[in-house]
Amino acid sequence: MKTRTIAEPYKIKMVESLKTTTREQRLAAIKEAGYNTFLLKSDDVYIDLLTDSGTTAMSDVQWSKMMIGDESYAGARSFYTLEAAMHEIYGFKHLIPTHQGRAAEHLTSLIRIQPGQYVPMNMYFTTTRAHVERVGGIFFDCIIDEAKDTKVIHPFKGNVDMAKLQKLVDEVGPEQIAYLNIAPCVNMAGGQPVSMANMREVRAFADKYGIAVIYDATRAVENAYFIQQREAGYQDKTIKEIFRELMSLADGCTVSSKKDNLVNIGGFLATNDDGFARRAKELVVVFEGMPTYGGLAGRDLEALAQGMREMVEDAYIASRVRQVEYLGQKLIDAGVPIMLPIGGHAVFLDATNFLPHIPQDNFPAQTLAAALYVDSGVRAMERGMVSAGRDPKTGENNRPKLELVRLTIPRRVYTNLHMDVVAESCIELYENRHKIKGLTMTYEPDSLRFFQARFEELEPAMA
Ligand code: F0G
Repeated sequence: MKTRTIAEPYKIKMVESLKTTTREQRLAAIKEAGYNTFLLKSDDVYIDLLTDSGTTAMSDVQWSKMMIGDESYAGARSFYTLEAAMHEIYGFKHLIPTHQGRAAEHLTSLIRIQPGQYVPMNMYFTTTRAHVERVGGIFFDCIIDEAKDTKVIHPFKGNVDMAKLQKLVDEVGPEQIAYLNIAPCVNMAGGQPVSMANMREVRAFADKYGIAVIYDATRAVENAYFIQQREAGYQDKTIKEIFRELMSLADGCTVSSKKDNLVNIGGFLATNDDGFARRAKELVVVFEGMPTYGGLAGRDLEALAQGMREMVEDAYIASRVRQVEYLGQKLIDAGVPIMLPIGGHAVFLDATNFLPHIPQDNFPAQTLAAALYVDSGVRAMERGMVSAGRDPKTGENNRPKLELVRLTIPRRVYTNLHMDVVAESCIELYENRHKIKGLTMTYEPDSLRFFQARFEELEPAMA
């Protein structure tokens, strides 16, 4: 029998109109935005693949829960609803809500890092690394080398290289490691997962040296899906079971709820460590609000609790990752260079191989994201040298091996016809790639420069 199509496990109840623009309007808009897609007005964007962060469509049940949010300042019922959902799904003892993920990273870095200590991560994430470095911590990249080659196919390209970790501990001593910060599904590596077997090794290593494991569990559900699909022994387990097992290997986690958790705002810190939780509750009052709301409204906590339950439904997560694969496969079939294998939340165009004639100093990924917008109104994001920033010691540009453009798919928002439009635009740009020239940076903010940096075209090639 022919394989049958599997459709989305939901139907659409409310729609939001999309605005189309002319090429001339888009040229004016990107120029005004300094060729930085972060600085475009969303009204000038047709299909917005800037990020999967906070861009989710909530379910009717989530919206209905918002009506029963308890807005009490202290001890709100909605906190206890969220705590029960976190206990059931994640299984950690303590919950400290925050207004978004980076706030949980802020608290974690302040509490757990002494100046000069190392924080090994399976590749960096922009905000996480910024918080580590602000308190004098040193980022140490312990991801496997395969992660940095867009063409290598590996089922778990987010894995930790145990030899790199061992070497660091041998050189600096275990007391110089603040904690291991592991991301199940590595955003900057292209949405690539870690395996359960690798996380067990990480756990054993941490136990041997008395080091804590704190996940960045922002996209860990997508990781659980890849484990179910790719790792021996997990095919018959539910996503909920796999997710819980994955979480059981860490001492705590920070989460941006704007991704997996299916809400538009929120985040949290969760941990089994009583001392860490106590310190976090002391500090959250300074930066976010009472430990029972952490910068969120009662209704946000309700929507988040419901989102946690929906995110581990097998049919939902399968449909979500399959949509990303649908777009990625179209590009692969057309010969467009992308990061392989296709990741969990996004398709990453490989700008180095897409635009080999543009040197890294002229920002190929930044250029490609701008050109894509001008071509079709599709907004993507640079994940290359601009995002990587500068070395805090030398002031030199960090030169990441990966120069990528992220086509990030919001959850439950676009249809596969939208994906077709995106694919057609990428393919046509690839066919005319020689016409695309590079950019120079004209304004550079001190930290997290990719959000607000401005550029000019080397020559007016996009006109
Ligand atoms: N960790 C990861 C892996 C992330 O992808 C993000 C955000 C954060 C932490 C920070 O969370 O935004 O809630 O403060 N990523 C967004 C993105 C911005 O577009 O990838 P936040």
